[in-house]
Amino acid sequence: MKVVKSIAAMQRLSGRWRRAGRRIGLVPTMGFLHEGHLSLIRVARRRVGASGQVVVSIYVNPTQFGPAEDWVRYPRDLPRDLKACRAAGVDVVFAPSDAAMYPGKAAGRYSTYVVEEQLSQSMEGRTRPTHFRGVTTVVAKLFHLVQPDVAVFGAKDWQQAAVIRRMVTDLNFPVRMVIAPTVREPDGLAMSSRNKYLDPEQRRQATVLWQALRHARSRVGRTPIPAARLKKEIARLVAAASQAKLDYVEFFDPETLAPVARVSRGTHMALAVWVGKTRLIDNGRL
Ligand code: PAJ
Repeated sequence: MKVVKSIAAMQRLSGRWRRAGRRIGLVPTMGFLHEGHLSLIRVARRRVGASGQVVVSIYVNPTQFGPAEDWVRYPRDLPRDLKACRAAGVDVVFAPSDAAMYPGKAAGRYSTYVVEEQLSQSMEGRTRPTHFRGVTTVVAKLFHLVQPDVAVFGAKDWQQAAVIRRMVTDLNFPVRMVIAPTVREPDGLAMSSRNKYLDPEQRRQATVLWQALRHARSRVGRTPIPAARLKKEIARLVAAASQAKLDYVEFFDPETLAPVARVSRGTHMALAVWVGKTRLIDNGRL
């Protein structure tokens, strides 16, 4: 397994692979890898085959964090991540520095961003107004550098996957997007690098997100339910956990992300909940 840090070295490698007709699979991550990330790596390998190249990028992208967010304290452990990638059969880990990814930014000389203007406005985009601009920018850069045939993302970040898919379509990236299912802990909590922030009591209370999803699933049946009513029920359920505070819960069409007034089978639900100082998200099809 190669560890690549420079932009030029990554471009040389991907250029060589392309000329040799090798298939390239990319799994973009911010590191502190868990079983959710590893499941994406397995999907990427299956897609490109044994002769293909699987690239995992590990980069805690500063432009997708707001000024008051957790960029500085976001968990990082490159040695552990490299070990996990090696064990998972990854070919290349691309782990660039901030100076490499955003040249001149510290001196105020970085000024090009990719902005998706529709799907990024609701939910995560409302609470985190500059978040998706950072995500689309860094993913566009990674696509240019790695030139993947296939890029694998997790359903855990449903809106993120929808926004990137729109970018791929609108900007004609020759990349096939694959969305892999959310990997959960035995008690239902979606795996996330941010789960590390939770103390034992918060970790117990963090299962409210999964309970909220299950509650909504138990409520959809033959007759549609008003979204407003279900939102109230979920707000009450979340409020029952003393350290949990609901940021939003939304019911929407899984493709267009358009909110629905009436919830029925196939409607998608997403929510964000503060558990102490940690903001967790989850989503699922009802
Ligand atoms: P990160 O949070 O590290 O997630 C990297 C990828 O892993 C994303 O596609 C995410 O949806 C997926 N993932 C996270 N938890 C998962 C779980 N429990 N089950 C399945 N997949 C899961 O998302 C990002 O990084 C960044 O925004 C990035 C796309 C890398 C751009 O910086």
